[in-house]
Amino acid sequence: MQDKVVIFDTTLRDGEQALSASLCVKDKLHIALALERLGVDVIEAGFPVSSPGDFESVQTIAKTLKKSRVCALSRALDKDIDVAAECLKVAEAFRIHTFLSTSTIHVKDKLRLQYDEVIEMGTKAVKRARRYTDDVEFSCEDAGRTPIDNLCRMVEAAIKAGATTVNIPDTVGYTLPCEFGAIIENLFQRVPNIDKAIISVHCHDDLGLSVANSISAIQAGARQVEGTINGIGERAGNCALEEIAMIIKTRENTLKVKTALKHDEIHRTSKTVSQLCNMPIQANKAIVGANAFSHSSGIHQDGMLKNKNTYEIMTPESIGLSQKSLNLTSRSGRAAVKNHMQQMGYSEKEYDLPSLYASFLKLADRKGQVFDYDLEALMFFNNLQEEDDHYKIKYLSVQSGNIMATTSITLQCGAQEISDAAIGNGPVDALYQVIYRITQYDITLDKFDLTAKGEGENGLGQADIIARYKGRKYHGTGISTDIIEASGQALLHVINSIYRAEQISKIKKKTSLKKEK
Ligand code: KIV
Ligand code: ZN
Repeated sequence: MQDKVVIFDTTLRDGEQALSASLCVKDKLHIALALERLGVDVIEAGFPVSSPGDFESVQTIAKTLKKSRVCALSRALDKDIDVAAECLKVAEAFRIHTFLSTSTIHVKDKLRLQYDEVIEMGTKAVKRARRYTDDVEFSCEDAGRTPIDNLCRMVEAAIKAGATTVNIPDTVGYTLPCEFGAIIENLFQRVPNIDKAIISVHCHDDLGLSVANSISAIQAGARQVEGTINGIGERAGNCALEEIAMIIKTRENTLKVKTALKHDEIHRTSKTVSQLCNMPIQANKAIVGANAFSHSSGIHQDGMLKNKNTYEIMTPESIGLSQKSLNLTSRSGRAAVKNHMQQMGYSEKEYDLPSLYASFLKLADRKGQVFDYDLEALMFFNNLQEEDDHYKIKYLSVQSGNIMATTSITLQCGAQEISDAAIGNGPVDALYQVIYRITQYDITLDKFDLTAKGEGENGLGQADIIARYKGRKYHGTGISTDIIEASGQALLHVINSIYRAEQISKIKKKTSLKKEK
């Protein structure tokens, strides 16, 4: 049996479907590129038939990636499979992933089918997908609760029909590691053609066992693990791939398997996903939590000073976490900024140096010293902004205290400048009232979060909002030394996205009218 475990990432599909506001194409591509750099073998980029937006982002990712294989999900339906194939055909290498429920409760109450019909439908779907590619994955949804005889029949039939990977999901996160390992063992003992496919696992974390279950499955012979970065996903999430990666690396001698991942990209990939998905990481999270490598007890610190191996089973450097904190001032030139970005592992492809440098200078003037985490935050923020943003803050002044707050603002609205002021029960309320009034958008604010990026008084304020407009949810982010300005930027981020979408749909309408004439 091969010793390589294939890493299948579903951050952009199973992970993304659980976010409160969906990601735009640009953010999805940014994450896909980070996953490719991490060395992920297969990237499940989305579910193309589910929406035109999903189709567009899967296709953009399929066109761009050169090393990772791009995969798209489809139900076991002809239409889904055909749309997935149409979307993926631009890729250098692609996989179609089709799935069907196999547990008794799903088959009886959700699909309302007999088990023979499920086998027939699954087989038909695999055969149809094989018309387009020789890389087809079939998933037995809710396999963790499927009677083993039925599961064996389905796996054998899917392989016979041409599936090259068969995935065994613990969809509801119910099984125990010993039970899940036994399912995989049983499949290896009882399915006669099992050697013709890779057996994959896909575990959810409802009982906090997704990683343990996946490791148990690897020990029983599974050679593909599916999961997401930081474990984001439905309900309690999916199996956290950074944990799988570091378990396999740290316990290689026992597990006797390996992955093709570049472990020193883990920290950066995790940060990118957390930032763009607006999903903060708990401080004590294994591998990527802020405290994962910090030792607080005096006894531990003493041991670490004498010999790091006393309390450290892996180094922070192994996941790409740099211990150094660099700093720059307004006298630092472009080359110094580029150099620091390089030292943090960012290539110039990932950011626009002139606009990063312009933001750096503004920040350096306000803050004096600019640290590596500031540069990173500026890079994320600059990547979120578009050159053609219609609305921009030109001038902002706030008065607040134990009185009603007043905000005065001048907004650049395309070629026009509009000034106005409003009062509110706090400075952010006053600011949002005046922005709503100027831009005339009827927006509902669902969520507002403020976090400090960086250390102590030196940090930057980051505002993240979830706002609703005409039934759709948007995520907006702003970063500044001033938290009120950051809050305003977050709202304008949302408004600019809405404005841009409206302009695009106006243009589309005009062109279709012209065609009709
Ligand atoms: O959890 C699950 O069963 C899934 C399948 C679509 C693979 O996400
Ligand atoms: Zn899932």
